[in-house]
Amino acid sequence: MNQAFKAPRRPGHDYAYNTPLADLDPSNPLLWPKEEMWSIFERLRDEDPLHFCEEAWMSSERPDDMEPIGAYWSVTRYADIMAIDTDHHRFSSEPAIVLPDPAEDFPLPMFIAMDPPKHDVQRQTIAPIVSSPSLSKMSVIIRERTQAVLDSVPINQEFDWVDTVSIELTTMMLATLFDFPFEDRRRLTRWSDVATAGPETGIVESEEQRRAELMECFEYFMGLWHQRIGGDGQDLITMLANGENTKNMEPTEYLGNLVLLIVGGNDTTRNSMSASIYGSHLFPEQWAKVKANRDLIPNTVAEIIRWQTPLAYMRRTALEDVEMHGKTIKKGDKVAMWYASGNRDERKFENPNALDFERKNARNHMAFGFGIHRCFGNRLAELQLQILWDEMLKRFSRVEVINEPTRNISSFVKGYTKMNVIVRD
Ligand code: HEM
Repeated sequence: MNQAFKAPRRPGHDYAYNTPLADLDPSNPLLWPKEEMWSIFERLRDEDPLHFCEEAWMSSERPDDMEPIGAYWSVTRYADIMAIDTDHHRFSSEPAIVLPDPAEDFPLPMFIAMDPPKHDVQRQTIAPIVSSPSLSKMSVIIRERTQAVLDSVPINQEFDWVDTVSIELTTMMLATLFDFPFEDRRRLTRWSDVATAGPETGIVESEEQRRAELMECFEYFMGLWHQRIGGDGQDLITMLANGENTKNMEPTEYLGNLVLLIVGGNDTTRNSMSASIYGSHLFPEQWAKVKANRDLIPNTVAEIIRWQTPLAYMRRTALEDVEMHGKTIKKGDKVAMWYASGNRDERKFENPNALDFERKNARNHMAFGFGIHRCFGNRLAELQLQILWDEMLKRFSRVEVINEPTRNISSFVKGYTKMNVIVRD
């Protein structure tokens, strides 16, 4: 294991333990690129497992034109998160699964942020795309593309793994799911980044720019929708345009569901691909273990997803008063279920900050959530990652990360923006 991981204190330790509990706000995105949230979560799990934050800022200094986010609860232990995620009768996914409420003048309804019955019928409409026959057909394409991308990377020379491999592979996958014009596929990458861009992230200059780019996305997809009415393709747009429960969707709902599928299918798998490399660099003995025994690949992928947790939290809104740890979550209160913390909960995972490709309960991770909103694309994501691992291990003796990667400035999408590496054959 590398020296960095022998340090007894995690980044942000002093801040987390010297700050009054009431002032701790893990939703502040500036904590995340420096990994300072881990110490906060450690303290909250031990001392205040149901934690109230009076005023979430979501940025170091909230810009004047930003709506206040207000108060929210943080749930940080594995068992508590599981209890809330599987209780959709008392914890609603409406009006949003992120802490800020939707802007009244720019709503983006999507089925991840809906309760039954509407959620269920929309999810069912597109379910065939992740059925076993569809996945086995896709596995052939995924393998061919993965082989081509890995064969094209330079050996013994520095390059950015995020852009060259992670973004390229997940964007190609997304283009296939939508049957999207292949030459324009990088527009999907941009729209995915823009959709989740918050203030201070450097992705867009202003909220106006963000909305303008999302409208471009909408217009592009509207063209595809019209072309596919009456079609018999197996792609997501044809399914939505012809599905009994989706063909008369409001335009905003079409855009909302597109954003859901673009972000859901892109950022998450992308960041798990990058985490595969970063994790192997930090824990080289684990890479050696799976290289010697490729039967470990499925568990390796589960463990990487646990360790990375590409979506750090989902929000719920209480539909009634709920008692927990001697406190009352009031009807209407916002609750953040911090999957990133649940996946590092010592009560569930032994030595949780370490990667262990033989971890017995790696598959119990909560990075895909639980309950009726459990990730729609989990099997597809695992398939992509398993193929990537298989093809990497066949080709490379090791992958070295050259310097500390740069990370997303976000407490929602937990990932990497740049990771310079050298691969050795
Ligand atoms: C490692 C990769 C992935 C991770 C970690 C991930 C994580 C998640 C999480 C945490 C949720 C919410 C669960 C809950 O509220 O209980 C979710 C829902 C969802 N994911 Fe994923 N996801 C991944 C890959 C994908 C892919 C590849 C797709 C697209 C094919 C996808 C599409 C969706 C959709 C549509 C939902 C909404 C499901 C619903 O509301 O019923 N995800 N995902």
